Amino acid sequence: MAGWGDWTLALTVCAAGLLVVQADILTYATVGQLFVRELQREHFQNEFEPFLYGRVFNDPMVFKCNRELFPDLPRWLRFTQRHPYDNGFLYGTPLQGDLGKNTVEIFVTNKRSYDTFKERLVINVGPAVKQMPYQAEFFIELREIEKVLPSEVQNEIKKDIQMIWGTDKLDYVNITSALDRGGRVPLPLAGHYEGVYVKLGSDQPYSKCLRRLQTEDHQRECKAGGKIAGDCSVCTIPANCVTWCKSVLIDLSRPVPPPPAPTVGSGILAWGGEFNPPDSPPDRDFLPEYIVTVIIPFILAIILCLILAYVMCCRREGVQKRDAKTLDIQLYHYHTIHDNSSELRTMADGRSGAPQPRSTLPMFNARTGEKAAPQYPFDSVHIPLIMAQQEPNVDTFPRK
Ligand SMILES: *[C@@H]1O[C@H](CO)[C@@H](O)[C@H](O)[C@H]1NC(C)=O
Repeated sequence: MAGWGDWTLALTVCAAGLLVVQADILTYATVGQLFVRELQREHFQNEFEPFLYGRVFNDPMVFKCNRELFPDLPRWLRFTQRHPYDNGFLYGTPLQGDLGKNTVEIFVTNKRSYDTFKERLVINVGPAVKQMPYQAEFFIELREIEKVLPSEVQNEIKKDIQMIWGTDKLDYVNITSALDRGGRVPLPLAGHYEGVYVKLGSDQPYSKCLRRLQTEDHQRECKAGGKIAGDCSVCTIPANCVTWCKSVLIDLSRPVPPPPAPTVGSGILAWGGEFNPPDSPPDRDFLPEYIVTVIIPFILAIILCLILAYVMCCRREGVQKRDAKTLDIQLYHYHTIHDNSSELRTMADGRSGAPQPRSTLPMFNARTGEKAAPQYPFDSVHIPLIMAQQEPNVDTFPRK
């Protein structure tokens, strides 16, 4: 009987086939600009549960990303995911040397069902489209990298910096967790964050206020640690506030003077004289050290051993110290016990003819079938088993 189960199985197999031949995901990145791709758990949830669109699942998932046929990611690309219940992020800034196609394999493991799923992401890195000779880096103290990478937060931060810079033409160059720059992992308490460096670039020159970051006054004020007069940072959301003293300008507009050319010599090394080996160091006498570190502890250990042996073998209570009096008492005790027990034994022997004490008789003799009569009439005296129900310390018989 071919039931629904078979049909579902067939459909699943077809779907699995479809998933395998699924096309790669194509994205683009630009040299010198930040690339961010969010790996959404929701998207992969549908891959794991293709026939359960109506039901809402929230499975923990972990991602493993690497360049195809390589163990690691391309060197410009980084991956981060805070928690299996959070989305993952692939991010980074390609440089001129990274132009071309980067194929990244993404392995997703569903931590509930332990299903896995593989996806290929092709990132085409194109040449730089914007010149960004003016760049600046800002430190945001109250953020962590995963909270800054979503595009909405990036835009909020950019808006604030646009106000400082006085231009709309700003682009992200890089976002880095402070942990990648030697920052410390914060305490796991509310209000403690790792901190994030954001680097933005523009073709518009710095505003007057930003230029103050380069002045000596600014550096002196920051070192002194007091109030910073020229702090013109703007933050509409407190979490996005930049630390003014950790902001730096990276001015690429002026060409960097090339390093001075090395001076070329004649090609022949100058005569330095004959090799003169250094003198060997003077001999040292190690005897005092040997005595202090080996002989003395050794002697001490032997002395301690001897003391312990003496205490254990020769000074034991009852061996050496047993004097005549103690011995007498012990012998006396021994004899008393011995005498008493032999007396008891002779008494028991002499009783062999007499009837057994009643207390040792059973109520019913299994051999003879004889029943021992109760030793007292039932009704006359009532002897309670437990003389209970009386308060302690109270006289049972009232005195007259
Ligand atoms: C971006 O930041 C990372 C981490 O600090 C660094 O290794 C990389 O060189 C930076 N890239 C650019 C283009 O600044």
